[in-house]
Amino acid sequence: MAAHIKFSQVSYTYPYSGEDRRTALQEISFELPPGEVLCVTGPNGSGKSTLAQLMAGLIKPTYGEVFIDGKRATRDLLEDFHSKVGLLFQSPEDQLFADTVWKDIAFGPRNQGLSSESVSRRVQGAAKLMGIDIEELGNRSPFGLSEGEKRRVALAGVLAMEPEVLILDEPTVGQDWENREHMLNSLSEYRAIHESSLVFISHDLDDALKLASRFLLLEEGRVRFTGKFSELIVSQRLLEKHRSFRPDFYISFPPYQTWYPCPGPPFRKSSPSFQDRGTE
Ligand SMILES: Nc1ncnc2c1ncn2[C@@H]1O[C@H](COP(=O)(O)OP(=O)(O)OP(=O)(O)O)[C@@H](O)[C@H]1O
Ligand SMILES: [Mg+2]
Repeated sequence: MAAHIKFSQVSYTYPYSGEDRRTALQEISFELPPGEVLCVTGPNGSGKSTLAQLMAGLIKPTYGEVFIDGKRATRDLLEDFHSKVGLLFQSPEDQLFADTVWKDIAFGPRNQGLSSESVSRRVQGAAKLMGIDIEELGNRSPFGLSEGEKRRVALAGVLAMEPEVLILDEPTVGQDWENREHMLNSLSEYRAIHESSLVFISHDLDDALKLASRFLLLEEGRVRFTGKFSELIVSQRLLEKHRSFRPDFYISFPPYQTWYPCPGPPFRKSSPSFQDRGTE
C-alpha cells in the first residue's frame, strides 16, 4: 500500500529571495490517502511546484508539519521520502543529468542496489511506458532531445524507481496528442499495477479528469478548494476567476454543460459540440 502523506498548517517562504521575501504557501492542510489521484491546479505562481517539492521532502516547511505514514517528516525520515516518493520536476533540465538516456533512466534503480538485469528490465519497462524507443534513443544525450522527449525521459527515470507516490509537475506539457494519450494511459496502468498514489499538477483539467478523483485548487499560496470535480464546477466565483476551467473543458465534457452552462466568452465557436448545445 502506498504511503499516506499529510500536510498540517504548512507554510513556506523561500530563503534568500531578497527584500520582498514572498511566502509561497500559507497554512496548507490536506491529506493524500494511499492510492488516491489528486489533481493540483491553480494559476501561475500559486505555489503548485513549491507544494510538490515539500511533498517530495526536498524542502522543509517554514512553519507547520508534513507527515508520512503518520510520522513527522524530519531529517531522519528523508530516506523514507526518497524511497517512497518520486517527483517529476516541472523543468526536465532540473532532472536530467547523465550523458545518455539509458544511464539517466537507470540512475534511480542502480542507486536502489538492483542487479544489472533488474536495472535493465526497469529501464526498458519505464521507457516503454513513456513511448520511448530505447534502442534508438538509449545512447543519445538527453540534452540533445526535443522538449517533449526530454520530459518523457525524465518521467521514465522517475517510473523506473517504482515509487509508491508519484508527484508529477505538469507532465503532459509539450506532448503531442498521441504521446499525451499514451502517457495518461501508462500512468493509469502504472497505478493499477503498483497501487500507487498520484499527484498530478496541471493547468489542463481535460487531462486531469482522465485520472483524478479529487482536485485541490491553489490561489496565492492558499488552498481555495479541495473536493470532487462536480463540486468545483458549481462554484461560479471560481469559474469566473479561473478561466482555465473553461471553455474547452465544458465542450469536452457535455454532461457538465447541463449542470452549469458556459459563463461568457471566449468560446470556441467552431466546435460542433458547442453549436449543438444551442446556448447562444
Ligand atoms: N527559488 C525561488 N526563490 C524565490 N521565490 C520563489 C522561488 N521559486 C518560486 N518562488 C515564488 O514562490 C511562489 C510560488 O511559485 P511556484 O513555482 O510554486 O508556483 P507555481 O504554481 O508552480 O507556478 P507555475 O504555474 O508558473 O509553475 C511564486 O510567487 C514564486 O515567485
Ligand atoms: Mg510550477
